[in-house]
Order: sequence, then C-alpha cells, then structure tokens
Amino acid sequence: MATISRPTWFNYLLLGLSVFLIFCLVFSAYIELPPLLNWLGKLHPLILHFPIVLLLGLALLALFKKHIPPALFRITVLSVLLTAISGFFLASEITDKGDLLVRHQWLGGGLAILSALWYAFEDEISQKKIIKNTFPGLIILLVLGTGHYGGMITHGEDFLDFPKMTSYGKIPENPMVYQDITARILDQNCVSCHNPNKKKGELLMTSISALQKGGKSGPAIIPKNAEESEIIRRLKLPKEDEEHMPPEGKKPLSQLEVDILEQWITYGASDTLQLYDLNEAEPLAVLIREFMAPDAASKWANFTPVADSTLERLGSDYLTINRISDQSNALAVDAYLPPEYDSKQILKLQTVSSNIVELDLSRLPLGEAEISLIAQCKNLEWLELDGTPVTDSLLDSLSVLSQLRFLKVYSTDITDKSIPFFKKLKNLKQLYLWDTGLSKEGLESLGELTPGLFINEGIEEPLKDFFINTDSIPTQHNSSLK
Ligand code: HEC
Repeated sequence: MATISRPTWFNYLLLGLSVFLIFCLVFSAYIELPPLLNWLGKLHPLILHFPIVLLLGLALLALFKKHIPPALFRITVLSVLLTAISGFFLASEITDKGDLLVRHQWLGGGLAILSALWYAFEDEISQKKIIKNTFPGLIILLVLGTGHYGGMITHGEDFLDFPKMTSYGKIPENPMVYQDITARILDQNCVSCHNPNKKKGELLMTSISALQKGGKSGPAIIPKNAEESEIIRRLKLPKEDEEHMPPEGKKPLSQLEVDILEQWITYGASDTLQLYDLNEAEPLAVLIREFMAPDAASKWANFTPVADSTLERLGSDYLTINRISDQSNALAVDAYLPPEYDSKQILKLQTVSSNIVELDLSRLPLGEAEISLIAQCKNLEWLELDGTPVTDSLLDSLSVLSQLRFLKVYSTDITDKSIPFFKKLKNLKQLYLWDTGLSKEGLESLGELTPGLFINEGIEEPLKDFFINTDSIPTQHNSSLK
C-alpha cells in the first residue's frame, strides 16, 4: 500500500481535536458549556451516520487489501472526531448519566481516538501483518458497539425486542398500589423519556422520591395535593397543548389511568398502600378494580336496578350505602355502632340484599337475625365481621356465600370448629384472623389445605391502628363518593 501524504495543518487539527476529546472524556462531569456548544450538540444524532458509513467502508477496504484514497481517510477521521465531540456537547446537559450513556461515550470516544491513531500510523500498521487485519476488525466491532448503546439510549433499552402488547401483565389479587399499578402506568407511558439515560425536562420518573424531587419546574408530585402536582397538571392539559404529556405522537393516557394517578397522589402517594387497605367503595379502590378487570363492571351489569331514593331511605348517619361506581347497581354498605343499636336498621337492607357486594358490620352486636340477612346477600364478595359476637355455628350459616373473596373475622370468639366453614368458601382469597379461639395447629392445617388462601394472622401495631380507625369510625372517605 502506498504511503499516504499528510498535510501538516491537518495533522495539527487532528491532534488538537484528539486532545480535546480526551479532555472531554475524562472531565465531562466538571465542564459547563456555553449555550452555543449545547446547541451544536443537537447535531450529533444528525451527523453520526456519516462516520458510521465511512468507517465501515474504510475498514472493509483495508480488510480486502484495497487502496484507501487519502482524502477519504482524512474525511473519515475528521468526521469521527467531530461526531464524538458533538456527542459530549449533547450529553453535557444531562446531570445524571446512566450506564448506557457512559458506555456509549467511552466506546465512541475510544473509536474516535483509535481512528486518529490508525490515520497517524497507517504506514507502520500496514507493514505488520497481524495488526494490519486486527485494526479494521476492531474498528468494525467498536462501530457496532457504539451504535448499539446509542440506539438503546434513543429508542429505549429494548428497541430490538419484538413489539410488546400494551397490556400491564398479570396484576396480583391484592396489588400494591404503587408498584403494581401506578408505577406500571408510568413505566409504559413515561419512563422511555424520563429515565437515567434520557432525562427530559430533567425529570426522572423511576421512583417516588425521584418524582417528588421533580425536574426543571419543581416537584412532579406533591403527596395529598394532586391539583398542584405537575404530572397531573400536564396530563389534564388539552392534547394540543405543548406541555401536555406524553408529547404529541405518543399515545395519551386513558381517563382511567389519569384518575388512578390523581387518586394515588390524593391518598398520599404511598409506596406501601395495598388495594385491600382501602374500603371497597373508596374512589381509588373502585378505579383500581376497574383497571384490573375491565369486565368487573359487566359482572354486576344485570343486577336489579336500585333507585337513589331507596338508598337515601335505607341509609342513615350510622349506615352508609354507596354505589361501587356512579352508574353501578352494585352496593357497598358500611355500618357503624350507634349509641343505641337496633337490629331493624340492618334488617331493612333485605330489599337490596342481592345488590350488596361489600358489607362492613365490624363491631356491631350482631345476632341470628343479622346473620341470616347476610346469608341472603348472595353476591357478597367482601365481608367484615371483626369484633362481633359471631360464633362458629352462626358463621356456618354463611357458607352459602359462594362469591365471598374477602373475610375479616378477627377479634371474635370463633374456634377451630370454623375451619370446615372456611374450607367451604371456594372463592375465599383473604382471611383476617387473629385474636380468636383458633389454635395454631388449626390455622396451620387450614393454610395447608387451601393453598390459594392468604391468611393474615396478625398485624403490626401501626397497621392495627389503621384498620381499626378505618373500620368503625365514619370517615370523610365514605362520604366523598356522594
Ligand atoms: C417522547 C418523550 C416523552 C414522553 C414519552 C414523556 N415525556 Fe414528559 N417530557 C418530555 C420533554 C421533552 C419534556 C421537557 C419539555 C417540557 O417541559 O415540556 C418533558 C417534561 C415533563 C415534565 C416537566 C418536568 C419539569 O420539571 O419541567 C413532566 C411533569 C412530565 N414531562 C411528565 C410526563 C409524564 C407524566 C409522562 C407519561 C404520561 C411523560 N412525561 C412522558 C418528553 C416526554
């Protein structure tokens, strides 16, 4: 191969650019760039295609022992160096660089330096047989590696995967509201642009603390204050608005998804809250259930219609009756202990018994009459009888409740004699049992015989406060649905 001529000025230019590039590689975290250079960085995605094509061409020419035109060599090396430097300008805006970006930078920077060395020592390299072939091979590998990480940064980590179904996968029976619901909504719709590698608006959306820290315009969420939370403000803007998220061209969130995010923030943006911590009629619980089973509403669709006036007539200060959702005829009933208890209040519910899907009678002095009313609620899925004088034999008359999924009977006098009853409830998923007459062995045998059942045998004090607080004292939550 003929020796290539190298104009001195060009050699100095390459040397200068190489030194500058190495400086960027090492000190990138410490330099603050003037805005013009930041702007030049935006050219990076545009110009990077030239060096890729040129370098691959050059490497192939070398591998097939063809003559490399000196002008082509010069243009290639210059374009590689400039592209790498523009990449640093682009990345300098990003404060928290993710792994992908760091790898892309070192591979790209290394590739540029290696190309400059190749140009400078081309005569020596072409004389040595082994190096002569490994050099172009190495260049090809580096081009592929750099491009691979670059692609992952711009297209998301899995851009080569098969297109995903836009489904949220399997959601557990009693989901963690953040981990299983809200984080999944954000992951699918927002995180592609708000992750450590690509932090648009300086906002990271991969954890609650990152959301609270927020981006350029402050916190993205303010727990208990959805109205002033930046993500809710943006989600609710008209779709044409420049600030609407996700930006134009991306699928906007559904109303249900927006509502869930909003309610989750309203409830304090907790990372430990679970669906079963919430009363069945509370707005967040209703939304989540709809999200988990879009056809749940249709399951209740052919319930006998109940008029609002009926609900008003049956309800009282100590008995709240709510529709599970606006249009639904499925009802959630919460009773509280009045100063003077009269079973008639509860027994009046008979007229709507087959519409009741949730019933909370915690702490009421129930007797046979109330229990036989409960047995008539054939669609009941959720029942709370904790702190009541219920007995093994009374409980047994409830084994007709084939839809029952959730049962609280802690702080009662029931014994191991109730174990056959629990086994008869084929749909039972969650059982709250502590402070009862059941023996340890009894509980163990129940657990072994019914694998799909989650038995909650005791709770920590703080949680106990939570349950007791939300169980028996009328709270604002219950009236907020009206
Ligand atoms: C296609 C990329 C993309 C997607 C997807 C995306 N965003 Fe953004 N986001 C941006 C860009 C770019 C900015 C900065 C420009 C601006 O402030 O409008 C931004 C800024 C933001 C900000 C303001 C940050 C601040 O402090 O200034 C919030 C809040 C936000 N996005 C929320 C979301 C939410 C919620 C989603 C998902 C529903 C989402 N984004 C999805 C690109 C995206």
